[in-house]
Order: sequence, then structure tokens, then C-alpha cells
Amino acid sequence: MEWANLLALWYFYQSGTKVPHSKEALSFMIQIFPSPKDLARAAAELFVARNPRTVALSGGSTPKLLFELLADPNEPFRDQIPWPDIHFFWSDERHVPPDHADSNYRMANEAMLSRVPVARNNVHRVPSENPNAAEAANQYEQTLIETTQQSLPQLDLILLGLGADGHTASIFPGSEVLHETTRLVAAPWVEKFQTYRITMTLPLLNNGASVVFLVSGAEKATIVKEVLEGPQKYPAQAVKPTHGELLWMLDKDAAGEIK
Ligand code: 6PG
Repeated sequence: MEWANLLALWYFYQSGTKVPHSKEALSFMIQIFPSPKDLARAAAELFVARNPRTVALSGGSTPKLLFELLADPNEPFRDQIPWPDIHFFWSDERHVPPDHADSNYRMANEAMLSRVPVARNNVHRVPSENPNAAEAANQYEQTLIETTQQSLPQLDLILLGLGADGHTASIFPGSEVLHETTRLVAAPWVEKFQTYRITMTLPLLNNGASVVFLVSGAEKATIVKEVLEGPQKYPAQAVKPTHGELLWMLDKDAAGEIK
């Protein structure tokens, strides 16, 4: 498999050195860091370096350390970021109100956005309190198009996570969203959670300028190996930015099974 050959070409541990690769016209890098804190710190440095004006935040638990670090006044990042100029979006959201414990918006707001001088009008959360998830997805698509003034927005920085089943954002294995070619935001039913999710689709994700997977923990080691070395069968493998960069940032445990 090409992935295996490319992986064999690199693998720098302590320093997390990036090694550019090309597969088809795609350039991607993989970085491995000793700990979740080192991973979060490197992601914070990347955020500052990319200096984005449009950002899609990932959900789940992994990005929380990064968000807290970016907002921490005792760290060097907060003062280097032009918070009022940045538009924040979410790569996906759970179908719950914004004050719900499962809300990706709530986590990011508590860990970061409520602690930094963002322009509240630039915080574009998913209207996930709308009982009609499909309607919420359509509304969010309009918000993306109107805010970016682009029919196919190119977001500067898109953060993504990886589920143990190979899902990313809320694009799950076997989901009809995998085959979406026109809509930017969809509301798939997720059988295993018995709920709808609202998620950015592959056309939007693959139009990102900088698409970054943050993956942490030994429980992800097997899926990381399968996604990076195995045959194409997982949603996360369908994230192949058309003309942007793809960066996999892993901690040592998540990279534990990579050759
Ligand atoms: C969500 C996410 C999802 C997440 C992965 C990893 O809403 O759950 O956006 O795609 O990134 O499930 O989640 P953890 O970081 O909690 O392992």
C-alpha cells in the first residue's frame, strides 16, 4: 500500500518533525508527539502560524486541551491571535441545545471562546436546538455561504477528530453522507447513537486550506493504523483536501501501532 511506503519514509518521534509527502496530488504530513499536552501545544503553535480568519472547530474531547491552551493568559498563544477577526464554525454538532452537556459548542465556549475577545457575531454555532435537524443543517449551510461570500467556502483551518470506528466530524461508516457531492452541511441519522448529527460534508471539508486531524490516546492506535496504512474503507480516509494541506497530529499512544 502507498500509505505504508510513505509512512516508512518518515516517522520522527520526539521532535514531531513534519515530513512532506505526496500521494496523487495530495500533500500530507504526520506528526507524532510524546504526550497529549505536547500535541495540544503543537496544535496551538500551528493555529498561530496559520493565522486563520475562518476556523472549523472539531468536537469530542480531544480538542479541549488545545482550546484551553489557546485561551490561557499564562501561555504565549492568546496574545498572538487576532480573536475579533476570526469567524468560528463547527465541523459537526450533536443535535442538542447549546447548553447541553453533549454540545460541541458548549465545550468550545467554556474552554476557549468565552475567555477570549472574539466578536460574538463571528461565533457561528450550529442552530442545533432546532428540533428539525435537516433544517438546522440548511440554515448552517446558508450561514457558511453568507459569511464567507463563497458558494463553496474555503475555510482557512478545519480541525477534525477520529472516532474508534473511523468516523470523522459526524460522517460515520456506512452513512449516506459519505456520498454527498453538493450539500455543504448535512443531518445524518446515526443509528448507533439513535440521534441525528449535523455535520460538514466532504465537499466542504476537502475544500479546506488546512485540514488538521488531532488524535490522542491508545484507544485510537488501531484505527489510526488502519486509516493511515489500511485499505480505503473509513470515512476519515475520504478527507483528501483538493488543494489544501492535510496534517495528522498524533500523540505517541495514538501512533502506537504505526509501523
Ligand atoms: C463529535 C466529533 C467527533 C469526534 C470523534 C473523536 O462530535 O463527537 O466531532 O467526530 O471528533 O468522535 O472524539 P474524541 O476526541 O472524544 O475521541
